[in-house]
Amino acid sequence: MVSHKASNVSASHRVAIIGGDGIGPEVITEALKVVAASGVKLETKNFDLGGARYLRDGEILSDATLTELREFDAILLGAVGTPAVRPGLIERGLLLKMRFELDLYINLRPFSGVGPGQTKSHDFIVIRENTEGSYAGEGGVLRRDTPDEVATQGSVNTAKGVERCLRFAFELAMTRERKHVTLVHKTNVLTFAGDLWQRVFDRVAKEFAQVQTAYNHIDAACIYFVQDPHRYDVIVTDNLFGDILTDLGGAVSGGIGVASSANLNPSRSGPSMFEPVHGSAPDIAGKGVANPVAAILSAAHMLEFLGEQTAATALRTACVSPVTGSTTAIGDEIAKRVKASI
Ligand code: IPM
Ligand code: MN
Repeated sequence: MVSHKASNVSASHRVAIIGGDGIGPEVITEALKVVAASGVKLETKNFDLGGARYLRDGEILSDATLTELREFDAILLGAVGTPAVRPGLIERGLLLKMRFELDLYINLRPFSGVGPGQTKSHDFIVIRENTEGSYAGEGGVLRRDTPDEVATQGSVNTAKGVERCLRFAFELAMTRERKHVTLVHKTNVLTFAGDLWQRVFDRVAKEFAQVQTAYNHIDAACIYFVQDPHRYDVIVTDNLFGDILTDLGGAVSGGIGVASSANLNPSRSGPSMFEPVHGSAPDIAGKGVANPVAAILSAAHMLEFLGEQTAATALRTACVSPVTGSTTAIGDEIAKRVKASI
């Protein structure tokens, strides 16, 4: 049995690798190269999953594979999805299945940089609830393909699910200099879900007297991301708002090629999953032009979660000054920097 308790830094960590489709495998190769340069030992096993695998033999993510994945310390994923498979199948059957089944209820996405037209740099983290909301799968269709078709897709928000996400955001804020949390929602229209989020937010905030709080509607937050991103420190929001907001976060923070994410199960009852925010980008796959920095920074989150703080910091520091060149050349240069700093 693999222990999922706080890791022993001298042991090697068992990591399941899902390169996936498109540019996924290319960027993961570079991420693993950089981790190796840090001296951290990983015991890896490749899992051939994604759109290409599905087209070959129909497997998306079987229960047997999921059971196998549960025994790892972490999962590092490149990107999944291919245009030849209809939208939703791989997303729901693989990515969301892992997020839900492994209870990866926190999607942590940090953003820093100087936004377009800005002079001051920003540095904030979006905590996106990752197992509920409109992603939960509630709803259905009636009278499909008739003029009277009805489709519903509800947003599921549980008091427990909302609270554990909010708590994580407040605890994270306590570790940061500014100690500030902004709730982003749409309480003026989503009066049931928004009200639950706001009430639990206010209640949890009382336990964190040192943390300052704010609230923004999602539409206003989109403006602030572009015009005044420095106002943010920690942002906490629901699944769908978090999905959209983090693409915008990437766009104002050096591009989606450097946006990283951690899908966390903070209770450590199983592996957490680490993946770049970007997709499989089939249009540029195999050309050696994909930016591996998002995957490398996602691997840094993984190292941190596995208790390898020194290596995680080395990876992050090595990514600060930009590198240009092919996917491999960028990976080589960052690996060289990491090796020199360890
Ligand atoms: C993301 C992606 C996924 C999401 C898709 C691929 C299901 O856009 O990780 O942000 O919507 O969560
Ligand atoms: Mn997204």
